[in-house]
Amino acid sequence: MEVAAGWEWDDTLFSGTAAHYRRGRLPYAPGLADVLGGVLDLDGRGRLIDLGCGPGTIALGLVGLFGEVVGVDPDAGMIDAAAREAEERGVTGKVRWIRARAEELPAGLGSFTVATLAQSFHWMDRESVAATVRGLLRPGGALVHISDVKTPTRTVAGLPYPATPYAAIEELVRRCLGPVRRAGQGVLPRGTPGGEAAVLSAAGFAGPYRHVVPGGQPLERTTDDVVAGVFSMSFSAPHLFGARLGAFEKDLRDLLREASPSGRFSERQPGTEVFVWPRGPE
Ligand SMILES: C[S@@+](CC[C@H](N)C(=O)[O-])C[C@H]1O[C@@H](n2cnc3c(N)ncnc32)[C@H](O)[C@@H]1O
Repeated sequence: MEVAAGWEWDDTLFSGTAAHYRRGRLPYAPGLADVLGGVLDLDGRGRLIDLGCGPGTIALGLVGLFGEVVGVDPDAGMIDAAAREAEERGVTGKVRWIRARAEELPAGLGSFTVATLAQSFHWMDRESVAATVRGLLRPGGALVHISDVKTPTRTVAGLPYPATPYAAIEELVRRCLGPVRRAGQGVLPRGTPGGEAAVLSAAGFAGPYRHVVPGGQPLERTTDDVVAGVFSMSFSAPHLFGARLGAFEKDLRDLLREASPSGRFSERQPGTEVFVWPRGPE
């Protein structure tokens, strides 16, 4: 099934990234759960389905707002990481993890108050998933699309350490993996598709209502965090490097040492952008 022009989804897309995900990815803005609890009027009794849940970032972050949470992801490593984290947090009784693509959900999941898609919808057959989600939502329910606010540069002026050298890291990845963005077994010359608003409107959702949870707080990251961040991305996932993985990691660490001999980097917390799409009338 074609998700982006000339590219087909396959299950190596996020292969090997789960081990690096929690350490490597910047968090969503603190306050996201409070904002969602308020705007969705959640009372702790509803049901959440989180599609493309990864290691449970959103599913577990919102677990306190729902009576039951279902996380869905096709990547075995992600599902294992999510299940481990749920155990550590002592919430296994409230969550269920399903290893599947959002396009191939098992029957009998029941209905949901909220469906979240956090930086995952662009990997899906969006028309099909939008229709499925609408069918799963209860009257009054909503699909919630969550992503980082895309800010061209987040200045680290005034912070103690150098900025993460993202451009140099991207150049190193290109030198190793070629000039065109890799994704699973294919390439994505034009990136993932945008324009999800048109897809969701066409599927019958109402809205959207946009909320931004502000970021900007200073963050401190170590070289290991930054390396984990690189290996958490689909376009520089460990499997893509094959036998050159060790050599790439060495070059990456050399580059980072040069950028920050202290091994520390400053960052600013990204803001989080939320679009709430009410299920809309029949
Ligand atoms: C960038 S990660 C986001 C993880 C998590 N939602 C978060 O915000 O931290 C994207 C996730 O979408 C999952 N994914 C990719 N294609 C998918 C599909 N067709 N159905 C469901 N999940 C998918 C990937 O396995 C990966 O875990």
